[in-house]
Order: sequence, then C-alpha cells, then structure tokens
Amino acid sequence: MKNIAIVCSGGDVSGMNPAIKHFVEYALKNSLTPYFVYDGYEGLIDNKIKKASYCDVASIINKGGTKIGSSRSKRFMQKEYRALAKQNLDAVGIDMLIVLGGDGSFRGMDIFYKEHGIKFCGIPSTIDNDIAGTSYCLGVDTSLNVIKNAIDAIRDTASSFKRAFVIETMGRECGYLALVSALTSGAELCLIPEMSYDLQAYEESFKKQIEEGREYFLAIVAEGIKEDSHSIAEWFEKSIGIESRVSVLGYIQRGGNPTVYDRLMAYKFISRAIDGLLDNRDESVICFNDGGFSYKSIHEVAEQKYTLDKALLNHLKDIRDV
Ligand code: F6P
Repeated sequence: MKNIAIVCSGGDVSGMNPAIKHFVEYALKNSLTPYFVYDGYEGLIDNKIKKASYCDVASIINKGGTKIGSSRSKRFMQKEYRALAKQNLDAVGIDMLIVLGGDGSFRGMDIFYKEHGIKFCGIPSTIDNDIAGTSYCLGVDTSLNVIKNAIDAIRDTASSFKRAFVIETMGRECGYLALVSALTSGAELCLIPEMSYDLQAYEESFKKQIEEGREYFLAIVAEGIKEDSHSIAEWFEKSIGIESRVSVLGYIQRGGNPTVYDRLMAYKFISRAIDGLLDNRDESVICFNDGGFSYKSIHEVAEQKYTLDKALLNHLKDIRDV
C-alpha cells in the first residue's frame, strides 16, 4: 500500500475537519494508507506523523477548527528544518501530501517539493478568500454565515438603541468578507482596502436619511483598511450626530459548525486532491471557478496577487453612491 498524509497550515477554517474525515475514507477506498501530520509544518519538523483510521475521524464532521492542529511555521522556511521534515516523511514512507492552507503555505511546500520531491496537492483554505486563481476557499461560507448571524444580532441593539454600529470583519488585506457581508446584510456603509473612500461624501446623505426617519446605521469595515474602526465610530458621533459603537467580530469568524456548503466543498476538494496525486500531478493546487474545479500550478496561484471580483466591486459602488 502507498502512503499519503494530510497537513493543515496557517489559520484554521471550518471545513478542515470534514476534509480530514473524507481524506481518511477516500484514501482507504483508493488502497492508500492515510497519515495525519499534527500541528502543521511544525509537526512535519517535529515528527508528529501518525497513521490514521476511521476511528480517528468519527464525530468530527460537525466541528470547526482542525482535529490535527495547525501552525504558522517559521522554521519550515529554513532549509535545515525542511531536511528534517523530509527525513521524518521518509521514515514512514510518505511521498504524497495534501496541504490545507493558504498561498504562503503552498509556496513553502513548493520549495520543499523542489528540494526533496515530496508531491503535494494544495487545497485553498482560508476565511480571507484571498488566494489568486480560485474564486472559493474552504471555510469562507461558514465564516460568512457566522458574520451574518452576528450582524443580525447586532442589528437588534442598533435598532433598539438607535445607534450606528461599526462592525469589523477579518480578512487581512482583503475586503471579501466585509463586502459580501455588507451586501447581504443591508449595511449602509462598507469600507474595504480595495477601494478608497471619503467619509465626508456620506455626511449630507446620512444626515438627510436621519431627517427622513432612519434610526440606525450598520457599517461593515474590513480589518485591512487604514483607519481604525473606532475613528469611524467617532465620525458617526461627531459628523453625523448619532451615538455609535464598535464591534470587532474577531475569532468567532474562524470557528463554528461547518455549513453544508463547506462540508460538500471539503468532500469535493479532497476527492480531487487524491485523484490528482494518483494521476501523477506532482505539485498542484485545486481551484474552484465558475462551478468547476481545475488543477493549477503553484505559480498561477501563489505568485499572483489576488484581486477582488470586479462584479462584486461594482455592487459596492451601488452602496457607495450616496
Ligand atoms: O487568515 C485568516 C486570519 O483569520 C485573518 O483574517 C487574520 O488577519 C489572521 O488570520 C489572524 O491570524 P493569527 O490568528 O495568526 O493572528
């Protein structure tokens, strides 16, 4: 039997556990012996590699996070530690890896492949949805649903107390989570790093809306914008004249019960990853675009800068037109 391992790298997402479950089942179905690498690339270096069985993946499909842990490994960027990782994989006879992570993790794995020939298939997994070459990354749907529930709950207080709420989403330099959340939650304001803004431009319109009966505002802002969320709240108080509060959603966006969509995507990503490796695709990333999957080279994915979908950005312009 040939051996195959799975490793999670970087920020965890809801969808990793369903992927890990299907990994074990689909590997066994294909007469492969499945292995877990615990704690990300750190675990590769520290030899936390263990054979997996059906029992290991019972009762995890509904759990956020990752049963096998993850890490952002600085050591893996150094040649000597990658050599150690190779020794550890050789000791158990593993030459195929599935990596759940972001583009930085794929770049690291590509170097590892070039040095040591360990084949890998990357599955884009990050709530930020900021990987070039794929329109969808595992975990995004769950995160968007967590954000939706949070905004719906905050709206209750916003409307009861007649306040403006500045709600900050994660996403690093990418405004995807903020933008989709603003569009689907009926927010009055959405600020993301991809589009410049001028708060002054809203003053007249927002004040007029208050005169006409608007009692509360919801502003969704991405963590990557230059301004601090508290200064946006201050602007609401001073320039618009409405009491305001900030709610930084933080890590709730990374966790929680994976949605049906993420469970299904996990299933499909894993099947294709194993199929690809068995089909001698030695270094690829599985991308999802226009409803279909494709294998892309690491260069197409990790060396390009992600840009936000133009159609979505146009919708932002609709909100911005005050
Ligand atoms: O990449 C996912 C993410 O949650 C980003 O949205 C956020 O900026 C970052 O990770 C936080 O990373 P860490 O938990 O390592 O501080």
